Amino acid sequence: MKLLITGTAGFIGSNLVRYLLNHVDDLQIISLDSLEYAGDKINLENIPGGIESDRHRFIHGSICDTNLIDEIATEGIDGIINLAAHTHVDRAYYHPGVFIKNNVEGVLNLLRATARFDIKRYLQISTDEVYGSTQPEHPFDEKAPLRPGNYYSSSKAAADLYIAAAINTDGIDAVIVRGTNNFGPYQFPEKVIPFFTRRIIDGETLPLYGHGQQMRDWLYVEDFCRAIWLVFTRGVCGEIYNAGAGNHTSNLELSKKLVKTLDADYGLIKHVADRPGHDFCYAVNSDKIRKLGWRPDADFDTKLTETVIWYRDNQEWVNSIMTKSSADPDDESFFEKHYRHRT
Ligand SMILES: NC(=O)c1ccc[n+]([C@@H]2O[C@H](COP(=O)([O-])OP(=O)(O)OC[C@H]3O[C@@H](n4cnc5c(N)ncnc54)[C@H](O)[C@@H]3O)[C@@H](O)[C@H]2O)c1
Repeated sequence: MKLLITGTAGFIGSNLVRYLLNHVDDLQIISLDSLEYAGDKINLENIPGGIESDRHRFIHGSICDTNLIDEIATEGIDGIINLAAHTHVDRAYYHPGVFIKNNVEGVLNLLRATARFDIKRYLQISTDEVYGSTQPEHPFDEKAPLRPGNYYSSSKAAADLYIAAAINTDGIDAVIVRGTNNFGPYQFPEKVIPFFTRRIIDGETLPLYGHGQQMRDWLYVEDFCRAIWLVFTRGVCGEIYNAGAGNHTSNLELSKKLVKTLDADYGLIKHVADRPGHDFCYAVNSDKIRKLGWRPDADFDTKLTETVIWYRDNQEWVNSIMTKSSADPDDESFFEKHYRHRT
């Protein structure tokens, strides 16, 4: 089987490629990534067989590039798994247009190619954030209305609606998996776990948004990779599958766990002005994917400790990916503007 997988130089994409090459035989992957600030080929350097092998090929390019997608589709692919997206809620607040371009128009481009080239299956990686905020005891199932609360989640919700339209109008075979907050190695250090870990190591304060009681359901990235593959291979066309771990943890509690793991001082935690439109809690009901045969295996505390230790022991990776980001003048100004005022 030959698949186009997009967004593979990012966090979940690189973990997915590693997972698939380790666990699935007779699979050839064409990796596509436009190498935005959060995407870097170093995330793929240690995949089995290396970046260029008979099982894996990397192409630097965008899902928005119709000619490029057509060219890839012409060589014959059996499916598309789309992870390419801009993913940081805070950045979406400043640059919502970038999110519409990549997360919505890019998806539409892939959907139209799926129809034109009769590609057998399209899988979209979506998020629990499309349902908006709730309480852990009131999780949303897949039939819940879409009520996105920020400019990132609204772009993801829009993409999900385009998929429904493409199934209906073009008759493509498509499925969606909506995951909760992932954690694990290779996540760009603007997201809370690697960001706070880095700051604790550097002895800097942890800028915790608002009261810190907001809750997220933390899902270990390898568990999500298994969910993605299960939905791609066994999911029913047109269906949506939630994948959550049931590890609801407040941001304050998470910060304390990180401080404790690195044996630092709880005084590093500093409450700062809240994020605009900060959703209180995301929660999903995952019964449907569990019926398909999935359940998360990871113990949250064990994997969180391993993840923190990974970032601590991979400072070279952290420095390298951050250097690339600050090499871009736009990103440098973003870091200045966004993070300086928090400390
Ligand atoms: N991280 C999470 O907790 C989480 C949870 C649920 C769903 N998701 C979804 O999973 C996917 C991957 O998330 P992630 O956390 O790995 O994000 P990430 O930001 O680490 O990686 C995204 C990758 O997409 C690439 N990209 C962006 N625009 C592109 C384009 N136009 N063409 C090609 N590549 C492009 C980037 O260069 C980057 O490598 C996203 O679709 C995200 O919405 C993430």
